[in-house]
Amino acid sequence: MKTILITGCSSGFGLEIARHFLARGWQVVATMRTPDPTLLPESERLRILPLDVTDPASIAAAVAEAGPLDALVNNAGIGWMAPFEATTPESLRQIFETNTFGTFEVIRAFLPGFRARGAGVIVNVSSSVTLLPLPLVPVYTASKAAVNAFSECLALELAPLGIRTQLVLPGRAPGTRFGSNARAIMSDAPQAPADYAPFIASALEGFNAGSDEEPTRPEDVVQAVWRAVTDEDSPFCQPAGRDAEALAG
Ligand SMILES: NC(=O)c1ccc[n+]([C@@H]2O[C@H](COP(=O)([O-])OP(=O)(O)OC[C@H]3O[C@@H](n4cnc5c(N)ncnc54)[C@H](OP(=O)(O)O)[C@@H]3O)[C@@H](O)[C@H]2O)c1
Repeated sequence: MKTILITGCSSGFGLEIARHFLARGWQVVATMRTPDPTLLPESERLRILPLDVTDPASIAAAVAEAGPLDALVNNAGIGWMAPFEATTPESLRQIFETNTFGTFEVIRAFLPGFRARGAGVIVNVSSSVTLLPLPLVPVYTASKAAVNAFSECLALELAPLGIRTQLVLPGRAPGTRFGSNARAIMSDAPQAPADYAPFIASALEGFNAGSDEEPTRPEDVVQAVWRAVTDEDSPFCQPAGRDAEALAG
């Protein structure tokens, strides 16, 4: 039986990915900052482990508990939408610590296991914003673009060892907790200087146009991750969702 570990399973894409693999007979290690066993159906094939991707001790404990893996999905991430001037050095670091260094360090911790087995697949969940420059998201986009570049090189480095590296670029999915989590994190941020006000208003209008639609559904991301893990011929980089596919052309 194959084993997959997923980061950030308390909500959104991570939770749906865990449900999907569980329903298809995989052993699932669903990790969360605050484990909640009520989120997933009871199963002998399910383990829920604590994992904060910004905490080296937490990563080491998860590696020790999880045992050998066939697949690792780096899904945990946080959003940020503000002019750069309203982004403190602490916020900048928090975003990169989670989205970028968190992903890198989780991979570093599990790599020896994959290398020892000469097999495995690593899937990094980035974002389709990396395909289209937009205002108000320079820091978030940079944190994910670094994951893209890292993944491209890592794929080449690990392929000779029998390990596949895959990238999934979801589009905008208002159905997850991503937006509300980002707003909660940003509530402590300083106000943007007033000079930005008209610009922010027009940028947000653009973002919110058609926001009652759901351009990317969690199941789009689930299907892309499923293909990335189970189909050895899946393309290295998969946009997920209507909007992401349109951007990728
Ligand atoms: N929704 C979108 O529009 C969208 C678009 C493109 C890409 N993405 C990316 O897709 C991924 C999943 O996002 P989502 O939409 O499913 O959002 P979500 O519902 O907010 O889920 C994010 C998950 O990441 C976890 N997380 C945050 N910081 C963490 C940390 N330090 N350690 C471990 N887990 C942590 C959250 O856990 P807590 O409950 O503990 O906070 C939550 O489980 C993210 O990488 C995001 O950047 C989202």
